[in-house]
Amino acid sequence: MPPEVRIVEVGPRDGLQNEATLMPTADKIVLIDRLSATGLRSIEATSFVSPKWVPQLADAAEVYAGIDRQPGIAYPVLVPNETGYDRARSVGVEEIAVFTAASEAFNRRNINAGIEESLQRFAPVMARARADGVRVRGYVSTVLGCPYQGAVPVADVVRVARSLHDMGCYEVSLGDTIGVGTPAAARAMLRAVASEVPMPALAVHFHDTYGQALANLLACLEDGVSVIDAAVSGAGGCPYARGASGNVATEDVVYMLHGMGVRTGVDLDRLAATGNWLAGRLGRRTQSKVGEALAAR
Ligand code: HMG
Ligand code: MG
Repeated sequence: MPPEVRIVEVGPRDGLQNEATLMPTADKIVLIDRLSATGLRSIEATSFVSPKWVPQLADAAEVYAGIDRQPGIAYPVLVPNETGYDRARSVGVEEIAVFTAASEAFNRRNINAGIEESLQRFAPVMARARADGVRVRGYVSTVLGCPYQGAVPVADVVRVARSLHDMGCYEVSLGDTIGVGTPAAARAMLRAVASEVPMPALAVHFHDTYGQALANLLACLEDGVSVIDAAVSGAGGCPYARGASGNVATEDVVYMLHGMGVRTGVDLDRLAATGNWLAGRLGRRTQSKVGEALAAR
C-alpha cells in the first residue's frame, strides 16, 4: 500500500462531458475554484475536443481563462489533436492529456480514428508540447472491456500504454471506461502494464457502472499504484461508450484512503460539500455514498 496517493480530480471534465443539459460556464468555474480549495493537486479542468462531439465542453477556453489557478495545482485539459492544442495554448494551458483506447472499435466511435492513427495524430502534439514545456498525460480507455468489441486482450492494453509512455507521456491513466472490471482482472491488467511501464508512471481510472470501482482500486493499491482518477460526486461517463456511467466518487476514494492511513492532502469535508453542491446544480442526488452520509450527519 503506498503511504500517499495523488488524486486526479476529473469531475469538471469526465464528470460533466456526458451531461445533456448545458451547465453555465460560471458554475463550471465555481466548481473548479471550490475543488482548488480542497487540497487536490491535479484537477482536470475541461476538454478542447470538437464542440460538435461534446457540446457540453464547448466553453473550454472560457472556463480555463476564468478559473483562479493556484500555484502547486496542475489543471490538465483533454486535447485530441493539434486544433485542440492550439485552442488550449491560446488560453495558457500548461498540461494536457491525450487519449486513445486499447479497443479499435471504441476508438473509432470516440475519436473517429483507429489506435495507430490516433497515436500518429498525437506525434505532432507531443513534439510541440515538448518544445513548449507542456506536460502530457496519456489515457488508455477500455482496459477491462469495450462496449463494442467485448473482451479486450491485456496485451493490447500493455502495447498502447507503452506507446504513450514511449512517446513522452509522464503518466498513463488506465481507464475502465464502462466499469465492467472486477478486482482480480484489474490487478492482472495493472501488473501486466507495470511490467512495461514503471508503476510510478501509472494511474488508474475506474468508472463505477457495476459498483466495482472501490474494490478494483483497493486491488490496484495493493499492487503499488499511487495515482487515482476520480470525479467529485461520482459524476461522469463517456458519451461515446454505450452504458458508461459515473466515475468513482472522489469523496469515497478519499474516505477509503484516509481510513487506511494513506495520505491524500484532501480535506474531505470541503470536498464532500463541493460534491453535494455539484449534485444540486445537476439536479440530482450525489452518487457518492460518503457525500450522502456526511450531509446527513
Ligand atoms: P472528426 O470529425 O474526425 O475531426 O473528429 P475533423 O478533423 O474532421 O474535424 C471535424 C470538425 O471539428 C471540423 O470543423 C474541425 O475544425 C473541428 P468543421 O470544419 O466541420 O466546422 N475540430 C475541432 N474543433 C475544436 N477543437 C478541436 C477540434 N478538432 C476538430 N480539438 C475528433 C475527430 C477527435 C476531433 C472528435 O472525434 C472528437 O472531438 N472526439 C472527442 C470525443 C470525446 O471527447 N470523448 C470523451 C473523452 S474520452 C473519455 O471520456 C475516456 C476517459 O475518461 C478515460 C476512460 O474513462 O476510459 C479519458
Ligand atoms: Mg472516464
